[in-house]
Amino acid sequence: MDRVDGLPLGQLHKRVSAKWREFPADVLPLPVAEMDFEIALPIRELLTGMVARSDTGYLGAVPELAANFSAFAKSRWNWSVESEQIFTCTDVGVGMVEMARTIVSPGDRILVNSPVYHNFYNWIIELKCEMVDAPLVSSENDALHFVLDIDGIEKAYASGVKIHFLCNPHNPTGSLFSREELSQLADLAKKYGVYIFSDEIHAPIVYEKGAFHPFLSISDNAREVGVCVTSASKAWNLAGLKCAMIITGSSRIKALADSMPLSVHWRASLFGAFAAATAYTCTDWLDSALSTLDRNRRYLKTLLNDSLPLVGYRIPDCSYLAWLDVSAHNLGENPAEHFLTQGKVAFNAGSIFGPSGAQFVRLNFATSEAILEEAIFRMAASVR
Ligand SMILES: Cc1ncc(COP(=O)(O)O)c(C=O)c1O
Repeated sequence: MDRVDGLPLGQLHKRVSAKWREFPADVLPLPVAEMDFEIALPIRELLTGMVARSDTGYLGAVPELAANFSAFAKSRWNWSVESEQIFTCTDVGVGMVEMARTIVSPGDRILVNSPVYHNFYNWIIELKCEMVDAPLVSSENDALHFVLDIDGIEKAYASGVKIHFLCNPHNPTGSLFSREELSQLADLAKKYGVYIFSDEIHAPIVYEKGAFHPFLSISDNAREVGVCVTSASKAWNLAGLKCAMIITGSSRIKALADSMPLSVHWRASLFGAFAAATAYTCTDWLDSALSTLDRNRRYLKTLLNDSLPLVGYRIPDCSYLAWLDVSAHNLGENPAEHFLTQGKVAFNAGSIFGPSGAQFVRLNFATSEAILEEAIFRMAASVR
């Protein structure tokens, strides 16, 4: 297996995805969670083969997807998932929203733990529900290690929320949740009649073996209250292909999934479904990408220590998103805007993830060392 690595800038500029279209060419873009890597060869061959055959029709049943995901989940996380519990949908956003529609009515309350993936807020707006927040809190010995506030969550559950949108593992903070924390959540959700929607899109990108726990693998209570929504799009870089999965763990939750309009399942794409089915067999590629990302998350620490020692950065436990506290630089209300205009380097503004993120930016390190070095160079030059 060749090393999976960031492509050169010249090649990346030919891409037409959001990350490479949103900014003028003199801006180095590091927002948007997509990778600057070449996708796995079997997926490339599959897609080029389909196009070559003009195999571009409608999506039918793709049992390979559920079978390959189940095998992956078993070997990666020792999680047994039955194929009948897996439902396809267009993307994770559609899965979260359409499954939530089977439970909530407009005006109902949905809990999040800010700072969190900004579309959680948009999904709640789409559902015409009310957002309730139990923010993450700093762990005892590290202000930048964010953990669940179980007491705050219990208070929110007791106040009457219908669904808890849980980002597991967590974007943008890079936190993983322990088996104990997830088990406590499941017990509380059962007690207060709350459903937990566990968005596990980042789960394959976890650096320490055994450190990620699929919510539905936790306990009977978790399976009674929980839904997992996930896809191969983050870990194998397939977001443009549009296919995700809603996974249930009990007959109660499966009945809800069965009640969704059938169109939810068929609105995934043919390319997405087959690419995802192939992705879950591409574990060598994933492991190689993970070792590059592992190097990058540490290299970023070195670069920041050398050039921007005032920036707060805890090496994340998952995914390729760095949550950078830039408050010490006093860059005003919108630090991301400062870096964009003064440094010609684009990050996500921390404020989109929640109010506590106002003095943070989110940097995507799924790129080459050269681009990372240039990004930190531009950042540092802009604060001098
Ligand atoms: C936590 C989380 N959920 C969902 C998504 C988007 O998934 P999709 O494109 O399948 O809706 C992202 C994208 O970065 C994400 O970080």
